[in-house]
Amino acid sequence: MNKHVENIQSDNAVALYAMNAGEGPHSYVQNSTYQKGALDVAKAILEEEIATKLDIKTPNGYYGIADFGCSTGHNSFPAMQIIIQALNKKHKHHQTSLPKTPEFYVFFNDVVSNDFNTLFSSLPPNDHDYHAIVVPGDFHGRLLPESSLHFAYSSWSLQWLTEVPKAVADRNSPAWNKGQILYTQDEKEVYEAYLSQYGKDIESFMEARAVEMVDGGLMALLVPAVPAVWNPKTEYTVPCDVNLNLGSCLMDMAKEGRMSETKIDTFNIPYYVPTPPQLKEILERSNDSFTIERMEILNNTAGKHTVGTINARAAFFRAVHERLLADHFGSEIIDELFDRYMNKLAASPVFLNPDNDKTIVILAVLKRKARRH
Ligand SMILES: C[S@@+](CC[C@H](N)C(=O)[O-])C[C@H]1O[C@@H](n2cnc3c(N)ncnc32)[C@H](O)[C@@H]1O
Repeated sequence: MNKHVENIQSDNAVALYAMNAGEGPHSYVQNSTYQKGALDVAKAILEEEIATKLDIKTPNGYYGIADFGCSTGHNSFPAMQIIIQALNKKHKHHQTSLPKTPEFYVFFNDVVSNDFNTLFSSLPPNDHDYHAIVVPGDFHGRLLPESSLHFAYSSWSLQWLTEVPKAVADRNSPAWNKGQILYTQDEKEVYEAYLSQYGKDIESFMEARAVEMVDGGLMALLVPAVPAVWNPKTEYTVPCDVNLNLGSCLMDMAKEGRMSETKIDTFNIPYYVPTPPQLKEILERSNDSFTIERMEILNNTAGKHTVGTINARAAFFRAVHERLLADHFGSEIIDELFDRYMNKLAASPVFLNPDNDKTIVILAVLKRKARRH
């Protein structure tokens, strides 16, 4: 298939991944403090890595920075500010012969259906000293010119797959995910199909960035992950909460005749959350154009506690999953589904306590190796 046509089709599939638009009560803007918690912890590490590891020549005093999967910007702006301030400091320190104030271009990327209007209208008016540019499209493919990017950033976005693994949706395959909306570690075939798709997708992401980044440029990835071992009797993770609680609410609705079970069998959420060793292995094999400079597990306790109430947790899940759910099941079921989800949480001492949430966030910092000429 023609590469251009392929890209458009992939854009259509991932278009459903956009977070809830606007700034209303169900929006991503109002319900993404869980994710923001990780950035607050990453700040000092990002500053240190830029100060010590960034290794680029900027003959014209220009820096390109991109946020891949920026959503409506609320969590992206503080991240861009941290990166630009650190780049500025480094530039002033080292590049004495170059213009004192370099120019910064920030490329905000997300899927084509993302609410970029909200992003632009909420750009901090007096607090951003960069040119803001929108780059809509699937970040698994090339989006920017060759060697134009000095810093690549992506937070809470790489878990989204390009598609539901085909075997998972195929009723004749041993990996058919009947009655569930996501993988569990117990269903080996399903789990492996998801993991394999994740590996391929990260590979494509790294390949595209390898072309776009300048030699010596840095990439910071904030990746949701789960520990290799945790106790499902007393602990949980976000994917397990989604599958078990949101999934069983849908099943309850099917049992009550509100929808068919086939409707649930044909719905699978297209994301995967790796363990730290899985991510490390995938990054190592993904592309030999990068070195891994640092991989650290961030303590996101503060972020988790921002969704410590039933209402906050349901709103956080709704802001992330509503489009996908509404596209498949119809928007008329959404209020009821999340009411049921809240009832389910209220009845569960394990899921009610944010300290039992064992989801982790990995900060991976990579450097673009020098190209061989
Ligand atoms: C959970 S949000 C994270 C937003 C923000 N980075 C943050 O940290 O809060 C994930 C974002 O990734 C975007 N996304 C998912 N797959 C994508 C793809 N293939 N290309 C571009 N953006 C994608 C979604 O549309 C969504 O806005």
